[in-house]
Amino acid sequence: MMAMQSGGKTIWADEGAYPVRERLGEASEGEVLVVDIGGGMGHDLVGFRERHPGVKGRLVLQELPYMIERVEGQGGIEGVELMGHYFYGEQPVKGSCHRVFSLSFSRSSALQLKK
Ligand SMILES: C[S@@+](CC[C@H](N)C(=O)[O-])C[C@H]1O[C@@H](n2cnc3c(N)ncnc32)[C@H](O)[C@@H]1O
Repeated sequence: MMAMQSGGKTIWADEGAYPVRERLGEASEGEVLVVDIGGGMGHDLVGFRERHPGVKGRLVLQELPYMIERVEGQGGIEGVELMGHYFYGEQPVKGSCHRVFSLSFSRSSALQLKK
């Protein structure tokens, strides 16, 4: 597994940016907490875990298939599920009441929340 670090960059999960604990709450063990759509190499999810290590729930990185292959080629990311998906298609992650879709196209991106 890739021991990636977010490198101290500013991300949406930073203290004082998006109110993670108030808005996300916690998912149960098997539930998806965050889906990062177009999440690149997964830096924001890694950063999320660094900043909020105790928050339960699965983290999913959705990216173009070639990007997912690239991440897999580097050994994957511990604690992050990789999913090749084009965001114009139907969202395959469904059914959780603790679900966030992170359209992080920039460092200061907004989030689209679905409960
Ligand atoms: C500007 S980058 C942002 C990457 C990351 N979220 C960040 O903030 O560093 C946009 C990302 O969207 C992905 N992307 C572009 N078109 C996509 C599509 N149709 N479906 C899924 N991901 C896509 C690209 O591969 C790229 O990694």
